[in-house]
Order: sequence, then structure tokens, then C-alpha cells
Amino acid sequence: MDFGIIDIEFYFPKVYVSQTDLEEYDKVSKGKYTIGLLQTNMAFPLENEDPVSLALNAFDRLVERSNIDLRTIGRLEIGTESSVDRSKSIKTHLMKFFEESGNNDVLGVDNINACYGATAALFNTINWCHSPFYDGRYAVVISTDIAIYEKGPARPTGGCGAIAILIGPNAPIVFEKDHGYCSSYFSNDWDFYKPKMSSSYPVVDGKLSIGCYLGAIDNCYDSFQQKFALSNKKKTDKKENKETEYEKFNLSMVDFALFHSPFNKMVVKSWARMVYNDWLENNQVVEGIDEELRKKKKNETRWDRNVENSFRGVSKQSYKEKVEKSNYICAQCGNLYTGSLYGSLISIILKEKKQITGKRILMFSYGSGIASSMFLLKVKSCPERIIQSCTNIEKMLEKRIKIQPERYTEILTIRDEKKNSFSYQPTCRKDLMWDNSWCLKEINEKGKRIYQKI
Ligand code: ACO
Repeated sequence: MDFGIIDIEFYFPKVYVSQTDLEEYDKVSKGKYTIGLLQTNMAFPLENEDPVSLALNAFDRLVERSNIDLRTIGRLEIGTESSVDRSKSIKTHLMKFFEESGNNDVLGVDNINACYGATAALFNTINWCHSPFYDGRYAVVISTDIAIYEKGPARPTGGCGAIAILIGPNAPIVFEKDHGYCSSYFSNDWDFYKPKMSSSYPVVDGKLSIGCYLGAIDNCYDSFQQKFALSNKKKTDKKENKETEYEKFNLSMVDFALFHSPFNKMVVKSWARMVYNDWLENNQVVEGIDEELRKKKKNETRWDRNVENSFRGVSKQSYKEKVEKSNYICAQCGNLYTGSLYGSLISIILKEKKQITGKRILMFSYGSGIASSMFLLKVKSCPERIIQSCTNIEKMLEKRIKIQPERYTEILTIRDEKKNSFSYQPTCRKDLMWDNSWCLKEINEKGKRIYQKI
């Protein structure tokens, strides 16, 4: 049975701020956010929206659209780095949907490590499907996050949204498993973390985080290639019982490559880094690349402008073909944290539609700290329901309401001041919310969060 992605839903707030307006408001040079970071707009939450309400909406819409019987869901896992409670998982809030069906036999809790949580949730879920505990039912993985940064250079790299992914057998989008193609890189680094329990803002070293991210790509891609070669060797050896020269994995073997996208310029840098890795491996001379660059130690080139610019130059065309279309949702909504990579997946489906059928997609998931993985998806088919969901997302993005940076900044300040309040009823502006959407009604005198559908 091919377990994988059966359906996918994306929920985001109705309001956004324009990056062009932000450039003016922040008094930075024109183009810094729009050309420098390759961002167009940024989604942000109102006072009565939080990671729980975003997840409630994504799940509710997925279930309603796919008309799925809640008794047939046996697992529900969340990926987040925006928890609102240090004990109670966001997943437990979603159990309210299951009350009427009487189904409380639903495994899974929240997964936390920066932007990696949804990938951890996805891997747990796929492993469950192949485990002795699997009971034949569907699973849902939800990424839900609100990315907000203190005023300063990181603020334009915020964003928010929730993505719900339905997992099950005979899926149209599957994990390539013939050769166990998945490599990971985990380490103890301090590029981005949230040590202040009372603050939503991370402590972030922007330049270090970019280097850590590129280092994780190098390491994941190295072991990915090694595993690929090894597993191909085993397979062929068994059949032919002889030593053979095996084809190395390289980027020509994928149709698309998707990356965790904190901002789209990072994706440009990532693809260039992958191309640099291929170049180091294959020893071919490439016009425009100085052969002297081979003498540099790879792990000393993560911040090397000469290496970066050279490979950004030669990878421009392949970037257009294999990566660029995945940038759409990040450009419109900003960093979805745990959902970012899966927003890129939606973007590529949304842009390719039926043509995505048969395509092989390389996925790179990164969470600061560091947790990262590289794996392959294969699109066996692209059913109408997935295309419909993607088309609907495009329409909803067009209907959003633009908010001025002054008001956006005010809302962020209120959120920050009130987020730990008890006996708090946030302002509810129905005109700024989608119809039939869940929102936070109040945090009561005991700190209990109560949600309503408006
Ligand atoms: N017009 C066009 N481009 C411009 C302009 C302009 N007026 N001004 C600057 N730029 C370009 C720069 O040349 C640079 O491009 P390059 O990277 O291609 O050279 C880019 O815009 C960014 O400019 P910087 O001066 O480098 O930006 P700054 O230091 O102010 O901040 C940063 C960028 C570090 C990414 C910051 O936004 C940040 O800390 N973000 C959060 C951390 C993050 O997302 N890290 C990524 C991995 S970890 C994670 O996923 C959370």
C-alpha cells in the first residue's frame, strides 16, 4: 500500500501587510524586502487569532471538503513552534471535532523543534502507517504557526498560516521508499531559539542562521547521495551478483526541488548551494565557475560571497525550471515556520496543476537548532480535489484585505501585551475575517482558551 498525501488544505488570515509598504514604513532602502528578500506580502494574525484557531480552521476545512467520517481518522499530529501552553498540546483542542462521532481513539500530540515540527509529525505518521500499531485508518498532520519577530531586520521575514495534510493508503503523492531515500542532519547550534517563555519573539542571529541552514543542506545532500549509491548497489548486486559502477544521484534526477522557505531569497541561495554540491561531486568544468573554488573546504564556504554569487549565476536557469514556482505562497504569506516546506508543495501543485503528475520532488526541511531532513516525493497522480483546494487558495489570496503597517504594528503590540492575559476578550472584527472561521473568543479567569466559529 502506498502511504502518502491524499489531500491538503491551507488556511491563512484574511489580512496582510504589503512588503513595499513595510519598506517605506521601516525607512529601509526601496527594494530591500521585495527584491532583497524576494517577498511580496506578509500574512499576520488579528488579536483573536492564534495557532490553535489557525489549526481549527485548517482541519475543519479539510474535513468538510473531503467529507471524511471522523471515526476513520486514527492519528492527528501537530507541528508547531508557536505553542500557547507549556503542557496542553494544540492537538487536544482539535479533539472537540471528534466529540460527536465518539471517536477518542486518535493518536498523536504536538511536535516541536523550530520549523521542523511538521516534518517530524509527517515522519511519525508515515512510520505509524508501517508499524504494528497501524489500524487501517487515515491520519492528519497539521502545521500551524505565527512567525513574528521584534522590530528590526528580521521582522519582514514573519508570516503565518496552517496546513492540514490528509495521510492514508493508495495516495496520489507518495514518499519514495524503494531505496529508503531520506537523510538527516541534526546538531547543537544556536542560530534561532526562543528562551524567553513570556515572549513570542525568537532570539535570532540572522547571518549565522543562513550559514547553519546551508551547512545542513551540505550535510543532508552528502548523506542522501551516499545512501542512494549504497541502496542502488545492494539492489543491483542481488540481481546481477557483480560489481557495477553506479550512477550518482544528482539534480538532473529531480523535476522539482522544494526548500524550507523563511523568505524566498533563502531558496535561491539553497538551490545555488545544491548546484555547488553537484559541481564538487562531478568534476566537470562549468563555464563561469573558477576551478580554483574547488580548493576551498566546503564547510568554510557557507558565507563565501564569491562561491554564492558564482553558483547563483550558473543556477539561474535551472532555478527557474525546478524551483521558482514553489515560491508563490511564501511570497504572499511569508514564513509559515513548520508549514513553510508544505506551502511550497502547494505552490508547485497550484502552478503545475495536472502537469505535476509523474514528477519527482526533492524536499528539504530545516528547523533551527538544528533538525533537518532531505527526502523524495513522487506524484503518481493529481486528483481533482487537490487541484480544487489549490485553486481555492489562489482565489482566497486575491480576496484578502490589505492593512497599513501602522495598524499592523499596533496589532502586533497588542498581541504581545495580551498573549498571557487571563480574563481577556480580544477584539473581534468580523469584516476582517473569513466567513465561518474559528477564532479565540476569550481566555477565561483560569487561563482556559475558548474558541468560537463566526
Ligand atoms: N534592493 C535590493 N536588494 C537589497 C536592497 C535593496 N534596496 N537592500 C538590501 N538588499 C539585499 C541584500 O543585498 C541581501 O541580498 P543577498 O542575500 O542576495 O546578498 C538581502 O537584500 C538582505 O539584505 P541584508 O542586508 O543581508 O539583510 P539584513 O541583514 O538586514 O537581514 C536576514 C536579512 C538576516 C535574513 C534577516 O531578515 C533575519 O534575521 N531573518 C530571520 C532569520 C532567518 O529567517 N534565517 C533563515 C534560516 S532560519 C529560519 O528559517 C528561521
